Amino acid sequence: MSSLLSRGCYAVGLLGLGVGLAVGGPAMAADLVVGVSWSNFQEERWKTDEAAMKSVIEQMGAKYVSADAQSSSEKQIADIESLITRGANALIVLAWDSDAVLPGVAKAAAEGIPVVGYDRLIEQKGVFYLTFDNKEVGRMQAREVFKVQPKGNYVFIKGYAADPNADFLHAGQLEVLKPAIDKGDIKVVGEQYTDGWKPEVAQSNMEQILTANNNKVDAVVASNDGTAGGVVAALSAQGMAGIPVSGQDGDFAALNRVARGLQTVSVWKDARDLGKAAATIAIELAKGKKPSEIQGVITFKDGPKKVPMDAVLLKPVPIRKDNLDVVIKAGWVKKEVVCQGVTKDVPAACK
Ligand code: GAL
Repeated sequence: MSSLLSRGCYAVGLLGLGVGLAVGGPAMAADLVVGVSWSNFQEERWKTDEAAMKSVIEQMGAKYVSADAQSSSEKQIADIESLITRGANALIVLAWDSDAVLPGVAKAAAEGIPVVGYDRLIEQKGVFYLTFDNKEVGRMQAREVFKVQPKGNYVFIKGYAADPNADFLHAGQLEVLKPAIDKGDIKVVGEQYTDGWKPEVAQSNMEQILTANNNKVDAVVASNDGTAGGVVAALSAQGMAGIPVSGQDGDFAALNRVARGLQTVSVWKDARDLGKAAATIAIELAKGKKPSEIQGVITFKDGPKKVPMDAVLLKPVPIRKDNLDVVIKAGWVKKEVVCQGVTKDVPAACK
């Protein structure tokens, strides 16, 4: 697995770079257009990513143009073509379906337009890959649930099968849990992908798993906060709220569930860092910098097709009841939002 950059130093490095370029003033990237193709804005984090990205693009004097594929691969291809027509000198793509998006990426490559695969792997030679270490997110999710529940009946509520992150996450989860599964301490009584990462699909899948197992479930490894919300709704309907459940993204509702003891962990990925990094990298590539010259670049070969990719991976942070102050102090979320409705077992961050 590729070496990890500590989020802090990389972000500081980029921020420094970003600020440096910004300090260099609009002249640094005047007349450049950065086109961003978003898969959708289903999870609240993507608006945070976008705001951070847009701020750096505009600080550097470039123009931000974007499109929302609204969870459609066909629309995402059309969006990418449209962004090229609108003069994009670099593209940042959050893929809805990492295979279906490839023809659009090929069109950009044919026009010599650099592409940054954002958060989700687009496994194509020449595409730059920028994300958080998703396998490490999975390890963190599993570790926190295992700490609370080292034995028993486990359920995996996985991500969207067309998103490579779903399998990266699950690989990390299994790295941590496989020894206990092999020993028989943990029995996997349910495992489902979640179409489109939709919370309502996760809830329905969880309801069916609970019924099939007569509610004999002791822990749920859910792969993001949206699906974790669906899982907690299904558990609550059976009076089972409070069994360990994982998530990721630092969704505000999830951080409140963590404070109220309804979710064990939300693995936090500071989307502001990712957005700023993407903007800086896209502009540098548009200005002709080689991918190998990008600050913090590594070679990532852990994808399904083992294609060597120039990549930067930021480091995630697990947020539990005992360190909720981390996201409050980082200015990610307000204390009153995290602590709303917390009446018992009040975490330190809410006192
Ligand atoms: C993943 C992303 C996660 C997540 C999910 C839902 O690719 O890494 O942060 O929440 O998409 O959009």
